[in-house]
Amino acid sequence: MNTSIARKTSIQDTDHLIILINELAQLKSFELNEKEWAYAQKCWEEEQKGFVINQYSRMVFVTVLKDEKEAARKAAHALHGQLNANKIAEVTVIGALNNKAVSLAFSEGLALSNYQFLKYFTDKKAHSLRTINLCDGTEDADADELQAIIDGTFIARDLVNEPLSYLTALQYSQDIEALGKECGFSVEVFHKEKIEELKMGGLLAVNLGSIDPPTFSIMEWKPAGATNKKPIVLVGKGIVYDTGGLSLKPTANSMDMMKCDMGGSAAVVGTMAAISKANLDIHVIGLVPATDNRPSGNAYAPGDVITMYDGTTVEVLNTDAEGRLVLADALSYAKQYDPELVVDLATLTGAAARAIGKQGVVAMGTDTATMSALKVSGDNVHERIAEFPFWEEYAEDLKSSIADLKNLGGPEGGAITAGKFLEHFTDYPYTHLDIAGPAFMLAPFNYRGKGGTGVGVRLMFDFLKNKSA
Ligand code: BES
Ligand code: ZN
Ligand code: ZN
Repeated sequence: MNTSIARKTSIQDTDHLIILINELAQLKSFELNEKEWAYAQKCWEEEQKGFVINQYSRMVFVTVLKDEKEAARKAAHALHGQLNANKIAEVTVIGALNNKAVSLAFSEGLALSNYQFLKYFTDKKAHSLRTINLCDGTEDADADELQAIIDGTFIARDLVNEPLSYLTALQYSQDIEALGKECGFSVEVFHKEKIEELKMGGLLAVNLGSIDPPTFSIMEWKPAGATNKKPIVLVGKGIVYDTGGLSLKPTANSMDMMKCDMGGSAAVVGTMAAISKANLDIHVIGLVPATDNRPSGNAYAPGDVITMYDGTTVEVLNTDAEGRLVLADALSYAKQYDPELVVDLATLTGAAARAIGKQGVVAMGTDTATMSALKVSGDNVHERIAEFPFWEEYAEDLKSSIADLKNLGGPEGGAITAGKFLEHFTDYPYTHLDIAGPAFMLAPFNYRGKGGTGVGVRLMFDFLKNKSA
């Protein structure tokens, strides 16, 4: 389902309007009649955050905002229900408060609120809203960019919301190929034979219990005018379903949302889609190692020692710590690109989710410049970054008595020891983003919705856009 962002330069008196103000006087140019004006004044005096003027030929939704982007996104979400209740298909957002960033954030929040995943309903009760028009104070480029960001986020949400019954690793790679064609980035997929030839021991071990083959998808966006000489590589955890494997997830419900365990890779795919649609001048490669993780007669077992793509041997002590195994192979694979920097995104640990919940992204790494830039982007798009320590002592917990590493840390600092495991497979400026908390919502969470949130797409888009500028 699409939400179109368009531009409107002249407004008809049948166009439904949303007028954003921070002063009552900003309504003056809209030629309200006497009764309407008196009503607006009354609402303003009562400090209402929003009110509606029904002009019969159209609705005028007035929203009172401060100069704060996240409040604007949330206000848009609050209004979204009203637009649907009035069966409005097209609306024009007028930023009378003269703050382009806030107006755009409002439109972004409105578009993000309009997302639905209806594929599996027989009776598809779709929202009425289809088109959001930007107007004065914005340019065509703003609409195009917002459309790219929304599309990328919706792509990530769709992928996360797809259950394993559709989205096997193989199907995932096919969806990525189709998206590459649609959006303009190139895609190469390694299938099981090639993955075996390359000896990606982490991805192959996790896949042993599966009835479906693994895939390793490589996406590339390389515009002629790229501002970076060395590519930026994004790596995403692509566990299409995580049962825990033989270390089966214990409690009731703990598996219910595990179709979201490819959320990191969905963010990478959504980012590739967004940057190619927006034609960002930056060379980016995206890597997605994908498989499900499940028990079977052939599944990898606690105690197994496996040899990774880079030759490192790993003692597997818990088959539920599978994300780091597939990511490690992709991170080693990334070395051949001589990357400027690498960022991975992963629903990696319950520990990260327990530490900060859904309110932000846990981050750690060896690349201070990228960490600073990600914090700026995180604040811009409100996918905020919580930096965790990355002290070398944490790596001591990963020492094995039988192999180079074990895949399980101690009882404390689980998000960090997981990051330390990954760091072993890097030799470039590296940042790890653990999105286990914000990737998937069991209950609606404002404009982020219910189910897959697409977290990471807006963050990485903003980061890459700033890099390319
Ligand atoms: N996919 C999970 C992490 C997760 C938890 C994602 C909750 C989203 C929501 C991951 O593979 C996992 O099971 N991690 C274990 C690691 C442990 C065995 C070291 C965990 O966090 O319990
Ligand atoms: Zn797991
Ligand atoms: Zn997992």
